[in-house]
Formats: sequence, structure tokens, C-alpha cells
Amino acid sequence: MSTLAGKHIVLGLSGGIAVFKSAELCRALVKAGVTVQVVMTEAAEHFMTAVTLQALSGRPVYTSQWDPREANNMAHINLSREADAIVVAPASADFMAKLLHGGADELLSLMCLARPLDKVPLIVAPAMNREMWSNPATQRNVLQLKADGIHVLDVGQGDQACGETGDGRMLEAEEILEDLEAFFTPKVLAGKAVLVTAGPTYEAIDPVRGITNLSSGKMGFAIARAARMAGASVTLVAGPVHLPTPRGVQRVDVRSACQMLEAVQLHAHAAHVFIATAAVADWRPAHSADQKIKKDGSGVTPQLNFVENPDILATIAQSPRGASGELFCVGFAAESHDLLAHATAKRLRKGVPLLVGNIGPATFGQDDNALLLVDQSGARELPRASKQALAVQLIGDIAVRLTR
Ligand code: CTP
Repeated sequence: MSTLAGKHIVLGLSGGIAVFKSAELCRALVKAGVTVQVVMTEAAEHFMTAVTLQALSGRPVYTSQWDPREANNMAHINLSREADAIVVAPASADFMAKLLHGGADELLSLMCLARPLDKVPLIVAPAMNREMWSNPATQRNVLQLKADGIHVLDVGQGDQACGETGDGRMLEAEEILEDLEAFFTPKVLAGKAVLVTAGPTYEAIDPVRGITNLSSGKMGFAIARAARMAGASVTLVAGPVHLPTPRGVQRVDVRSACQMLEAVQLHAHAAHVFIATAAVADWRPAHSADQKIKKDGSGVTPQLNFVENPDILATIAQSPRGASGELFCVGFAAESHDLLAHATAKRLRKGVPLLVGNIGPATFGQDDNALLLVDQSGARELPRASKQALAVQLIGDIAVRLTR
């Protein structure tokens, strides 16, 4: 379940063409279980009517500080006292300048000024033309807003409504949603660097053929996302998978087990936690042909010889940093039967403090899973749930282990 579920968010819209993304954001927030109260400036109403946002949020929209629906006629106080956060998206250049100076000549800025600083965080998603964004006045304002404790989200980059191209677009709705979810996630891994491997590896036979497996990478990607939400800086070394990179995660794409080992070794020295979820091929062809192997019509099939791939997890776990516990190593085991016995034996063989077992064929490519956490004192089951939810539980468990 999203950390946003059950939250009450005031979604403020200032004037900008990006309000069309706010409609999508409103919808996504409601879907995530958030109560959304929309407040619009007069400028925002030039771009979209309040009717649209009322329909999407299921609540009347506020546009005026003189709204007579409030018994005490103090919408700015009442709305901000109910909120878990105020999110202004889009935040125009003018609106940010106004926030900076404590301007309060309409409901949205008045409400931001009147919010209890210690209880109601203010998060803004800037949106403007690239020249406006890079103008020293805006950049100065952004720095000052941050210094004032306001959370200023990044801007996107690309084509702009005005026809120019550059920085200043408002983030997409799903990116803002990810950032809001991260904002509300307890930072149990703050200051930690987490390295994750995910997906299958691909071992080339020739330029067009190879050996791989059915790992989808979903579990590893979910773990990378959960670790980033928990405040870690995350590097994700991924085999060939078609999954979007979780927001805020540094991704390194590799193909073969040897490339994966190289990338992992490069990043392991700075990591505090290494989580090996990748389904690494145990063997690779001893020789990979430079050209496509052709049938010669004789009916004789090519003979493939294999060599064993390096064991990435064991290599890292048994390195000085892994063995000393300075780098906390977590292995995964995909088994087809006798999960507890195999996971227990594998934990010892790999030399890791924690091994996470799952039944491989039942989970490959699926969105849910069940995990068995095996350590030196025994085993604990994380019952069947979505891979996202299990990833959050696993990251919470690892964070506790780091403090022991
Ligand atoms: N692993 C690894 N490098 C390898 C093989 C496995 O890093 N060459 C890691 C996996 O990422 C996982 C753990 O080791 O974290 C266990 O992987 P698994 O394939 O289940 O185990 P194997 O060592 O291959 O053992 P077996 O095939 O006998 O079950």
C-alpha cells in the first residue's frame, strides 16, 4: 500500500499550461487513497475550470479567500489545518516569488503563509519557460525557498508549450506522485548507499543467439525503488530487462555475468548494503563466436562447451568489506522445492548474513511473491504480497539489521 494512502493533501494550482498535468496528478492521488482538496488561483482558472478538478477530486474546489461556504469565512486557516501537506503544482515563477516574500493577496498564497510550519510541509513543483527558469531571479528564489524549508521538486527537461526546448517543464504526474510517496516514507536508510543487482544475464553463443532465463527483474527493481524511498542512494546493476528505471535510482545496464561482476565491483567499495536479486547464469559458452553459426546442411549440430560464471554474490560477500560486515550482503535464492533447506545451505555457502528465499517458477514475471528470510537464528516468512510491498518490508528489515 502507498505511504500516501489516508493522507489529506491540499493541491494548489497556480497559473500555467502545466495544469493539465495537475488534473492527472489529482486523479492519481485519489487513486492512491489520498483525500485531495483543490485550491486554484485566478490565473489557474484561465487554464482549466474548477469543474474538472471538482469532478476528479470529488470535493468542491476553493478559488477565493472570501468563500462564503466556510462558516467563519477563514478558508485559508481551515484548509491548511486539515492538511498533511500542501502541494503546489504547478508553481509558477510569480507564485514562487510571492511565496518568497510572504505575499498573501489571494487564497492559495494566503493559505501557504498561514500554514503551521511545524505540521504542514509545503511542496512545490515549478513549471515555466526555460528562460524564466534559468533567470537568476528564479534561481535565487528557489535557493531561498529551500532555505526557508519549502520542498522544491526538480523540473523536467524537454519540449515546452511555447515551442522552446529546455529545463522548466513541470514533472509528469507519476514523477510527482513518486516524489510525494518518497517524501512521506520514513528515511530508515538515510545516508546509506545500496547496490542492487536485478534481472537475468545473457550469455552470448554468437552475435544473434544466447542463453538467458525468465527473470523479469521486478523484485530487484522494486527493492531499488524502496531503498531510494527510504533515503538511500541506490545503484541498480540490471541485466537485460524492459523495466523503467525507478525514479532517483542510478542504473547501470549490463548483459553478461562477467559484465555484472565488473559493474558490481566498481560500485561495491562505496556501498553499505549489497542486495543480489539477479538470476545470474551459472555457466556461459566457453567460446562466443564472432559470426553467426550457420547450418552447413550436414545435420551435425554444434557442440557447446561451457565454463562456470563467477559467483558475484559470493565474491563480494567474501571480500574484506563483505566478510567484515562493513558491506551488508543479502542473497536471493530461487528454488523449485525444499525452500528452507536449500536457502539455509545457500546462505552458508555464499557467506551472507541474510538470504531471501522464494519459489522461482511461481514468481518469475509475476507482480506478487512470498519471501522467506533466512539468517543465522532461523527463518521468517513474509507472506504473499505485491513485490512492491515485499520490497518495502525487506528494506525495513535490513535497516533494522544495520542498527544492530
Ligand atoms: N548469484 C550471483 N552470481 C552467480 C550466481 C548466483 O551473484 N553466478 C547470486 C544470485 O543473485 C542470488 C544468489 O546468488 O542472490 C543465489 O542464486 P541462485 O541462482 O539461486 O543460486 P546458485 O548459486 O546459482 O545455486 P543453484 O543454481 O545450485 O541453486
